[in-house]
Amino acid sequence: MNVPQIRNICCIGAGYVGGPTMAVIADRCPNIQVNVVDLNEARIAAWNDPDLSKLPVYEPGLDVVVARARGRNLYFSTEVDVAIAGADMVFISVNTPTKAKGLGAGQASDLRWVEACARQVAQCAKGHTIVVEKSTLPVRTAEAVDLILKAAQRQVVDGEPPISFAVLSNPEFLAEGTAIRDLESPDRVLIGGENADAIQALVEVYRQWVPHEKILLTNLWSSELSKLTANAFLAQRISSINSLAALCEVTGADVREVARAIGSDSRIGSKFLQAGPGFGGSCFQKDILNLVYLCRHFGLPEVADYWENVVALNTWQQHRISRLVVQKLFGTVTGKRLALLGFAFKADTNDTREAPAICIANDLLEEGAQLAIYDPKVDSEQIARDLQLLASSPPDAQAGPTRAALSGEGTWWTCSNVAAAVAGADAVLILTEWQQFRQLDWAALAPLMRRPAWVFDARAVVDPDAVRASGLMLWRVGDGSL
Ligand code: NAD
Ligand code: UGA
Repeated sequence: MNVPQIRNICCIGAGYVGGPTMAVIADRCPNIQVNVVDLNEARIAAWNDPDLSKLPVYEPGLDVVVARARGRNLYFSTEVDVAIAGADMVFISVNTPTKAKGLGAGQASDLRWVEACARQVAQCAKGHTIVVEKSTLPVRTAEAVDLILKAAQRQVVDGEPPISFAVLSNPEFLAEGTAIRDLESPDRVLIGGENADAIQALVEVYRQWVPHEKILLTNLWSSELSKLTANAFLAQRISSINSLAALCEVTGADVREVARAIGSDSRIGSKFLQAGPGFGGSCFQKDILNLVYLCRHFGLPEVADYWENVVALNTWQQHRISRLVVQKLFGTVTGKRLALLGFAFKADTNDTREAPAICIANDLLEEGAQLAIYDPKVDSEQIARDLQLLASSPPDAQAGPTRAALSGEGTWWTCSNVAAAVAGADAVLILTEWQQFRQLDWAALAPLMRRPAWVFDARAVVDPDAVRASGLMLWRVGDGSL
């Protein structure tokens, strides 16, 4: 074997995956220089900001890791070509969203950024370069990447050393909010490839902190497909429990009791059985739709339909919650003030991509509601982009319904704390399971609301007795015992 020693890594893409993953690699491998590059200048400037609270990604523990490695062997820059030229190993960690138009629109992955990276690596690499797919990709993408790179391979030209490549698949399984923990002690690291030396070189990077038995080796296609499969299975569990939450609500059962009962079976397991407003995040929906597209492409329509229903159930669950809010508020929310607590797609992240809050807020705005939104990590600009509607100035919480409010035009604004959002509201909707929402003082909040008032707890985080003792009505996802 002729295993290259990795001294210099370039990661293309400084997003939610590239940034934290490379920060941990740099932290754990002080002998390797890690350059994270991106086209987005503002993002790179934020990664370089001396004020660690301004990092572009909010993840518990990330600031500490970045503080240890940045400027030592971890660098963030927009100089993509230079970083590729100096690298022994290039990670491609760019976005792979669902295609918005053209062939496969709405399902297939948009691979334009991955292909652009492959071409840039082909153009700028020097010597032997191992190219690692870190982005989540449709099975057999490595074939295209390999063909692009092979076209650039050459023997010695004008005294320059030969240019050659090896392609590996190394999908990332981190979850947002726990990214640093997941990266520092992963359940497994998956490496797919054909070139034994390249595989071993990447194994040796991870071996600096990951136990040998947690590093799984497969062929390229199994590795690519395992990533889509893992996300499909996780999302399927959420749709399964959410489907039964609806049945619990009409039969007097409580989905948490059902989840505990089935989760105690070691064959089923207790994780990922939390009913909620539906899964969000940038990946579950896009990866399942990608799987659906692949199944149809390979002539497996029944398999495609099976997985497509996981997404359909999720969309139904989000609309179901907005529908029941309207129903319980006497069939109309026009001009009514509703407090939305939480906008991120899950706790401990500032990410709002595909957040259930977006769909639910849009439904309520469509009904003419006035939404007072509070999220500890999501800012007003992000919400405006997500809702495609500018914020309004907050109306006086004590004033009665104005003509403008009853016009049917939905409005929203952000609040700097829970009490400000709840003041004057007819209902509180809890859409993200932030820790602080578990400890709300309902005795103090209830008098701020207009009666009769509701709490809609889509994350089942409140203490039901405390809410009801304060004179508020309560709906809790999956709880038919209320
Ligand atoms: P992201 O959108 O946060 O980051 C991608 C970055 O790549 C952006 O900053 C973009 O500017 C940059 N970029 C795109 N094309 C470029 C180019 N040609 N040169 C330089 N920079 C370029 O995306 P993300 O959430 O980090 O996801 C990246 C990949 O990882 C996706 O395939 C995703 O499915 C996968 N993934 C994401 C997560 C997650 O939790 N977000 C977890 C596992 C896997
Ligand atoms: C998910 C996977 O967990 C990661 O392994 C994967 O790497 C990543 O997708 C990816 O490929 O992007 P992430 O989306 O960051 O990670 O977060 P999850 O914890 O999986 O939560 C996803 C959504 O499901 C959230 O909206 C969350 O609130 C919801 N969820 C999760 C539930 O409603 N119930 C649960 O029991 C668990």
